[in-house]
Amino acid sequence: MSTRVGRTLIRGGTVVSSTGRSEADVLIDGETIVAVLAPGSTILGFDVAASADRVIDATGKYVIPGGIDAHTHMELPFGGTAASDTFETGTRAAAWGGTTTIIDFAVQSYGQRVFDGLATWHEKAAGNCAIDYGFHQIIGDLNADSLQAMDGLLAEGVSSFKLFMAYPGVFYSDDAQILRAMQKSAKTGLMTMMHAENGPAIDVLVGQLLAEGKTDPYYHGIARAWQLEEEATHRAIMLADLTGAPLYVVHVSAKQAVAQLAAARSRGKNVFGETCPQYLYLSLEESLGAPGFEGAKWVCSTPLRSRAEGHQEELWQSLRTNELQLVSTDHCPFCMKGQKDLGLGDFSKIPNGIGSVEHRLDLLYQGVVEGRITLERWVELTSTTPARMFGLYGTKGVIQPGADADVVVYDPAGHTSIGVGKTHHMNMDHSAWEGYEIDGHVDTVLSRGKVIVDGNSYLGAKGDGRYLPRGLSQYLT
Ligand code: URP
Ligand code: ZN
Ligand code: ZN
Ligand code: ZN
Repeated sequence: MSTRVGRTLIRGGTVVSSTGRSEADVLIDGETIVAVLAPGSTILGFDVAASADRVIDATGKYVIPGGIDAHTHMELPFGGTAASDTFETGTRAAAWGGTTTIIDFAVQSYGQRVFDGLATWHEKAAGNCAIDYGFHQIIGDLNADSLQAMDGLLAEGVSSFKLFMAYPGVFYSDDAQILRAMQKSAKTGLMTMMHAENGPAIDVLVGQLLAEGKTDPYYHGIARAWQLEEEATHRAIMLADLTGAPLYVVHVSAKQAVAQLAAARSRGKNVFGETCPQYLYLSLEESLGAPGFEGAKWVCSTPLRSRAEGHQEELWQSLRTNELQLVSTDHCPFCMKGQKDLGLGDFSKIPNGIGSVEHRLDLLYQGVVEGRITLERWVELTSTTPARMFGLYGTKGVIQPGADADVVVYDPAGHTSIGVGKTHHMNMDHSAWEGYEIDGHVDTVLSRGKVIVDGNSYLGAKGDGRYLPRGLSQYLT
């Protein structure tokens, strides 16, 4: 065991897991948690605190497993530009917000071979990350060669792949391609992740809206109607049902799509869904509909949904009932200047994506404050289930002996003001969350035993983070 960072005791806090909470001290040796002890315990007569190299006082605070953001897009090429966070800047921002693992999407572009795409992602990330990272594989060109390559993904530590029912001409797969990939998923156990929107139908609506002179960001949300999310979600579920593939629908925003997932789950299917903070809090009317070109900040796909239609409330409800299993960010940041403004006068040219990797834990914690979810469910949605869903559980997602010492000390009495010039470490010239005032604060973050965030100081370094080969999902029945 490495002694790089010595022995650390996190003392006096409330350790929270997905199943309960207790007053306990957490002892870390090197990179690993070695004991969870009754407060003030001795081991074989030794005073644990006295023998530790470092004691962190967590009195009055929650001690939780580091956040796992299972959906990020650092440096993603999109719409003629690239997501503005590099692996270096994006993972550092994640760390500030209490996230100690990301799973990013390696991309196989059209015309490229799968393993060349994966290699490119390794090159982007290696030596640059502040926290540990894994990869899902986007299959952007689903041909015979890609299908064969999928047999080798697990050996590379990639146990999930994403397909797109949207974006014709870019990442799009048709039903025949999806069916073949799902047959492969059923055989290999790889999780099929789906961007479930009916892309060809969306493109017709986009063309018609633009022809009518409806070019503002708001119409991005009109073109990407909830019916086209519900329909694609249903289709994906039925193809998964037919083939036996485990299915995980990403960035669910429409309440009708949730209903499709819930119905499949109630039939006992291995069908799962995530939502993102933007769909819980923000809306078509207020954000996409902001005056002028302002709404471009919130152009993402699936789009923000109407508050009048009540999607946000339904999504919160689905998190309570486990109709949706986890919350990721889909972090895909673009600056307004030079990136989002590519779509001035044509909403379809606005690069899709919102940056939230820094704020996921804080934003979800407001659900605890408001009595929407329990403290335990907060930990489950942001860390434990992502670990289980994507084959990291045991090493990540839990505070127990033998687990990596990825630990966050969270202060419920603290306060966080979100916004540029306040708490904002993402490489963006704006914040989608400007002005949000958060009850709670990420005080201390440990990544494999090393304190990387200590109050207002960043103590980590580029390259602290390691590649995490993942196993098959531990969530399947
Ligand atoms: O708007 C989004 N979601 N951008 C990132 C790409 C994707 O579809 O996840
Ligand atoms: Zn997507
Ligand atoms: Zn995404
Ligand atoms: Zn702070």
